[in-house]
Amino acid sequence: MARTPIIAGNWKMNKGTAAAASALAQEVVTAIAGKSGVTVVVCPPYTVLHTVREVVAGSSVVLGAQDAFWKATGAYTSQISGEMLKDAGVTYVILGHSETRGRFGVPEPEETVKHYGETDATVNLKVKAAIAAGLEPIICIGETLDEREGGKTDLVVSSQVAGAITGVTSEKALRLVFAYEPVWAIGTGKVCDATEANRVCGIVRQTIRSLYGVEVADAVRVQYGGSMKPDNAAELLSQPHIDGGLIGGASLKSADFAAIVHATA
Ligand code: PGA
Repeated sequence: MARTPIIAGNWKMNKGTAAAASALAQEVVTAIAGKSGVTVVVCPPYTVLHTVREVVAGSSVVLGAQDAFWKATGAYTSQISGEMLKDAGVTYVILGHSETRGRFGVPEPEETVKHYGETDATVNLKVKAAIAAGLEPIICIGETLDEREGGKTDLVVSSQVAGAITGVTSEKALRLVFAYEPVWAIGTGKVCDATEANRVCGIVRQTIRSLYGVEVADAVRVQYGGSMKPDNAAELLSQPHIDGGLIGGASLKSADFAAIVHATA
């Protein structure tokens, strides 16, 4: 089955002023105009979703968000629900990013307090709630350097995949996007070797196959994320199990992001 590649830009806590967000979104719209056969998503900070929505309206660029809480409404100070994002024009939502899952669960070198610390259980609640709200989840999974060096990569990845989608029906699972993001490759400039990235993306697909069968496994899209740049994108994106990229740093420069979009077949 031919899967449509998906390139998503995770702006993180960058380009968060209306002026900066609107400038970058406009540049992306211009730079990818005319490119077909690929889903292009930008995920700006919450506060500029509205600004970016207006800029990308009428273009092929789709709006995404970086997280969503699992409750729809209520006394949850600071949280943003899927329902709210849907109303804000969001289509895709990143869930379980390593920066909310674990890396921030231990003190950053310059910090002394812990913050965030998602588990497979919270990611699962978010995935189910996002689907119920009509959003398309991009579910991040990936091993830390310690886990890789301890030979646990495949186990960590397959259990994160299974844990994230417990209770999701096959009809909904068909539409899921996974992002294999080795934690040690995120924002470090250390890209995972394309053959190895493809192998682990294959583990994601194999896990889906064991849970839902071949039809769902063939349909889900698996991105690679972690220091994907214009100079390594083509090799990564040509791998049979890699259906796109989740792009952090390089999504902040429209020329680099567009070069990655244009590197899809
Ligand atoms: P990076 O980030 O491209 O800067 O490594 C990827 C991500 O965190 O999604």
